[in-house]
Amino acid sequence: MIRAPRGTFDILPESHQRRKLLESAAERILGAAGYRRIETPTFEATELFARGVGEATDIVRKEMYTFDDGAGRSLTLRPEVTAPVCRAYLEHGMRKLPQPVKLWYLSTCFRAEAPQRGRYRQFWQFGAEAIGSDAPETDGELIVLLADLLEAVGVRPTRLRLSSLGTPATRAEYREELKAFLRAHEEQLAGDVRDRIDLNPMRAFDSGDAGTRAVMRDAPTLLDRLHPDDAEHFDAVRALLDEAGLTYELDPTLVRGLDYYTRTVFEFTSDALGAQSGVGGGGRYDGLIELLDGPPTPASGWAAGVERMLLATSELPTAPELVDLYVALANRDGARTAFELAVDARRAGLQAQQELAGRSLKGQLRHADRIGARYVAIIGDNGVATLKDMESGEEHDTGVGDVIPEILRAGTRT
Ligand code: HAM
Repeated sequence: MIRAPRGTFDILPESHQRRKLLESAAERILGAAGYRRIETPTFEATELFARGVGEATDIVRKEMYTFDDGAGRSLTLRPEVTAPVCRAYLEHGMRKLPQPVKLWYLSTCFRAEAPQRGRYRQFWQFGAEAIGSDAPETDGELIVLLADLLEAVGVRPTRLRLSSLGTPATRAEYREELKAFLRAHEEQLAGDVRDRIDLNPMRAFDSGDAGTRAVMRDAPTLLDRLHPDDAEHFDAVRALLDEAGLTYELDPTLVRGLDYYTRTVFEFTSDALGAQSGVGGGGRYDGLIELLDGPPTPASGWAAGVERMLLATSELPTAPELVDLYVALANRDGARTAFELAVDARRAGLQAQQELAGRSLKGQLRHADRIGARYVAIIGDNGVATLKDMESGEEHDTGVGDVIPEILRAGTRT
């Protein structure tokens, strides 16, 4: 048997129903704030991600599905959607629209990661991007929108971690300072932390080693080194979140896996998720449009993983399938009449299905009951049908041509 590739999955009808509920919540919540939906291509020029996400990131170094298009061009299945949305913003001249341009998406992403619960190689992201505003209110609005979306679909409990990364220059200076600090305390650090001082000094903050933790209590943090403008911006974002009644934890060690972030960064985690606890995150990316050859354009956004949202919501109601009319057969001779009645019923706006599996009449009625049909019309001889109300159990004979008008008159749901 041929199976779906590792780290991918089929979305079966039951699961699709739950996804549709998420989608309509996103549409309602983001639409109400003026975000309009966009869909970009599944693959893009590899250079878009190499430049946009960053050559040094794990995503670009190890996780991209990249292929040659047969004509010498390198293409990549999108590992994320922010860089494609910025490409589209530039390509379609959206700079000329009133700013910020607010967009949202529900798109597949592809990352060659080791699959585990909540981590897949093809997954779906909801995302929202506001391009063309540096106002702290934009960051505040986006964070509150994600909090509202998670709340509306029942993702809880969640924690919100918040930080600011300042500018790339501040970050580079801070990195040197942190490396110097770690070297000065080298003897007290765990071996793996010591080995990675140059490669990844921030890792020291996550160490479980007691000696390292003691050292890190006095380590300088990036938040203490922000440029005054960036610090002021961050204070304003925090004040807005306080105003909106959102609880957050300041986490100066919050690092995100993409290089384009500047200033605000944030991540929502859910304790219901286990190891892959990040349900959604994002931040400000004021330099990205310029990196893609556009003019300096501030922007901010987030993305949330659909599968992780579904894993963290147990109680999403699944709406039952509605069937107004099931057309059954007293004998095979009625098959064509049944076909026509089902077609006419659907054209009249009813949800109608007909018997297709050669069941006995008893089997057909049992099936109609199982799928929740409101009415069953049993096609008999000479243009007569028995119309059965599955709710009351009442049944009577009528002309086949009268079935639809009778149902429409009586109504389908009580
Ligand atoms: P990200 O944190 O890499 O950010 O991904 C966003 C969300 O996608 C994660 O919080 C997680 O829920 C989900 N996700 C990521 N990788 C996987 C995976 N392998 N399997 C399942 N779910 C996954 C971004 O992608 C940025 N573009 C977010 C952003 C938008 N920043 C600014 N604007």
